[in-house]
Amino acid sequence: KKVAVLISGRGSNMLSLISAAQDPAFPAEIALVVSNNPDAGGLERAAGFGIETAVLDHRNYKGNREAFERDMDALLRSRGIELIALAGFMRLLTPFLVNAWKNRMINIHPALLPSFKGLHTHERALETGVRLHGATVHFVSAEMDDGPIIIQGAVPVLDSDTPESLGARVLTVEHKIYPRALALVASGAASVSGHKVVLSREDA
Ligand code: GRF
Repeated sequence: KKVAVLISGRGSNMLSLISAAQDPAFPAEIALVVSNNPDAGGLERAAGFGIETAVLDHRNYKGNREAFERDMDALLRSRGIELIALAGFMRLLTPFLVNAWKNRMINIHPALLPSFKGLHTHERALETGVRLHGATVHFVSAEMDDGPIIIQGAVPVLDSDTPESLGARVLTVEHKIYPRALALVASGAASVSGHKVVLSREDA
């Protein structure tokens, strides 16, 4: 399956997907990396692997989210993309793109959903006093940080944690579960049934 990774920043999750996809047995090819931010560090890192990169700067669209998404959609289709992986892509999506890519777009969120949707998840986890925190890969639905859950990874919260130390622990889990989740979706082993994901195989 041809996959586009959408980023806004450093792209460490993108890199974990690129690395996993280097294995010929991996069921997906990272064919394109798109950023809404021309300064995203991940763009150079992707180009270093010989992957095509593109910038669609949302600031050129003057708040017209749907025009931005139409151009994004056209770009993805022009490259024969079959699956989208959002990896630190910091734009809220409208129903246009969500519906156009229904069950073909996944996201990673740095919390155990449905807890801590939105931003500053590690600060909020510490404030709340949860003892477990983590990351979730899910299909994207119209609601932010919602949609059928593919894989979650948990980490302990330590009394000594700062948002930075906790975030770093979560990030190592993100880098493990995102490639696994993408493989499950690209191979067809994970599919959506109602509000849930069903796995046809237990081996991945
Ligand atoms: C990750 O924590 C991801 O879960 C969140 O944004 C961060 C992106 O980091 N959505 P990176 O760009 O993948 O390094």
